[in-house]
Amino acid sequence: MERLQKLLARAGVGSRRACEDLIRQGRVSVNGATVTKLGAKAGPDDDIRVDGRRIDPPAGHVYLMLNKPPGYVTTRDDPRGRPTVMDLVPEGLRTRVFPVGRLDRHTTGLLLLTDDGELAQRLTHPSHHVAKEYLADVEGTPPEGKLRLLRSGIALEDGPTQPAEAMLIARGGGESRLRVTIAEGRNRQVRRMCEAIGHPVRRLKRVAVGPLRLGELSLGEVRPLTDGQVQALRQAVGLPVDADGS
Ligand code: URA
Repeated sequence: MERLQKLLARAGVGSRRACEDLIRQGRVSVNGATVTKLGAKAGPDDDIRVDGRRIDPPAGHVYLMLNKPPGYVTTRDDPRGRPTVMDLVPEGLRTRVFPVGRLDRHTTGLLLLTDDGELAQRLTHPSHHVAKEYLADVEGTPPEGKLRLLRSGIALEDGPTQPAEAMLIARGGGESRLRVTIAEGRNRQVRRMCEAIGHPVRRLKRVAVGPLRLGELSLGEVRPLTDGQVQALRQAVGLPVDADGS
C-alpha cells in the first residue's frame, strides 16, 4: 500500500502535486468510492480511477538482500553452468532483478539484488564512496604495522588503494579475523590487499553495504528490504528520500 498521490504519479497521471489536486477535487476513486483525503492509501490490486478512467500503476521496484553462500557466481547467467546467485532468487523475480556489484565465487555475505538501475549504479560507482564492510579470516596474525599499511593505502598492480579501515577483532588456531571496510570495489580487492601484506584470506564475508547490514540472514536466504532500508540506501547515495517512507 502506498499513498494515493504517489501511486498516481508513478502511473504517469501527473506530478505528485497535480495528483494531490485531483484527489482534493474529488476526481479520484478507489474501489468505487470517491477519495478526497490526501492520507488515503491504495495498492496495485485496487480499482483506481481518475475521472472514471482506470489507472494501472506499474509495480514499484524490487529490492532483495541475499546472504550469498560460497560456490555461487555473481552473475545472471554463467556460461560454464555453475550455480549462480540467481538460482537463490524466488522464481517470479528472477528475470527482473540483477545483482548490485559482485562478490567472488568463494566470498559469502551481503549481496543486494534489484531492478532499480539508478540506485544500483550509484551504489557501485566509486564517486559515491559507499563503504563495504568485510570480515576477513586471514592466515596468521598481521602486526599493527601491517594493518596500518591497509589503512593508509597499499600498492596493488592496478594502482594504490584508497585509505581503508582495518581492525584485528579475533585470533586463534593460526588465523585472525579482520574487519576491513573499503569504499572502492575493485576486483578481488580485499583478498589482494591482505595478500599484499603477507596474510592471505582463507574466508571472506561481506557484512554491510553502506547503511545496510546483513544481520541475521542465514546462508542462501533472500529477504526483501524494508522501506526504511531502501530509504537509507537512497540517502547514502544522494537520492531524494520520501518523507512518508513508502
Ligand atoms: N573483495 C574481495 O576480495 N572479494 C570480494 O568478493 C569482495 C571484495
